[in-house]
Amino acid sequence: MIEVGIIGMGIRGNLYATTIKYNAFAEVIAFAEGNPERLQAAKDKFSGEAYEDYSRMLEGKRFDIVIVALPDHLHKDAVIEAASSGCNLLIEKPLATSYEDAKAMVKAIKEAGVRALVGYENRWSPIFITAKEAVAAGELKDIQLIQARLNDSIFVPTKMLSWAAGSTVGWFLFPHTVDLALWLSGQKAVSVHAVGQKKVLTGMGIDTFDSITATVEFAGGMVGTFSSSWIYPESIPLIYDMRFEVLGSGGALEVDLRDQNIHKMTSRYSHPPTLGRDIYGKPVGFAAEMLNSFIDNVKDGTEPLVDLQDALNGVNIVDTIHRAVASGGVLKVDD
Ligand SMILES: NC(=O)c1ccc[n+]([C@@H]2O[C@H](COP(=O)([O-])OP(=O)(O)OC[C@H]3O[C@@H](n4cnc5c(N)ncnc54)[C@H](O)[C@@H]3O)[C@@H](O)[C@H]2O)c1
Repeated sequence: MIEVGIIGMGIRGNLYATTIKYNAFAEVIAFAEGNPERLQAAKDKFSGEAYEDYSRMLEGKRFDIVIVALPDHLHKDAVIEAASSGCNLLIEKPLATSYEDAKAMVKAIKEAGVRALVGYENRWSPIFITAKEAVAAGELKDIQLIQARLNDSIFVPTKMLSWAAGSTVGWFLFPHTVDLALWLSGQKAVSVHAVGQKKVLTGMGIDTFDSITATVEFAGGMVGTFSSSWIYPESIPLIYDMRFEVLGSGGALEVDLRDQNIHKMTSRYSHPPTLGRDIYGKPVGFAAEMLNSFIDNVKDGTEPLVDLQDALNGVNIVDTIHRAVASGGVLKVDD
């Protein structure tokens, strides 16, 4: 049995623990959660030792996998501690909220000789796998432009996450779209121009950006525009709005995840999510597939699908975007 410990039993920690219930090769043997009410809720739902302090959970124990599902800005210490204890790691995106931190984490992972997967779950999406196959087969020829928008409703930074001020919309959402651009194109970023706006959330006492928009130039001549905002009204039909377009010299493709094949008309109009949910209790979708494939990696001694260097490159770009926003100018993406 692959023995798993989970750090952070919020939305994602719960999703992973439930996924493992249905995996025949793995079991959750311990979890850590700093919020006493959430810890109690996890104890009621899952078996395994329960800890308030993750350092105590890691003390003297070598888990086959530790899942780090903490708020964005708290991944670093937990990852370094778990890696140093010899545990393989599934780390939620973003790997870290600075390139410096991400480099220190990857160094610790490499020194410990453990496997690590950063949670870029779209690489397990049948939709983006179809896009990747079309690009890899040369159907679009040379990619010139990627236009990626990924937005959230204001519910996310104001009601869903208690820690939005510790992150930004860029750290929360760009890891997905930037990783997709890197994965699909295989190109390296060279420069960034970005702007950010603060008004609505700061007005509500949450000191973080409402929106960030970046234009990124890549070495192969591709340009990517990445736009993310998390102040969309709660009335948008789905809690997120993701559109991803790729234009090549020989064709184009468009992904639109706003419509998930069901439109509900009750007291309000909505598009209930169908791509990631459970079927009779069992989580299905990209995140579940990603975790199950990492369990296979650890069980079978194979390498994870997301290379750590790719994850590091993604953090470097998102870090450069934030520095460009702060400086109000164009920045080179340094190694
Ligand atoms: N891949 C995706 O699509 C996706 C979606 C949502 C969130 N995420 C990422 O997953 C991570 C977790 O997000 P979430 O939505 O589950 O957030 P969440 O707030 O629901 O869960 C985080 C949990 O960590 C706990 N925590 C905080 N500090 C702790 C500590 N020191 N020790 C133990 N527990 C502690 C909190 O009490 C909370 O329950 C974030 O990095 C987020 O960006 C990824």
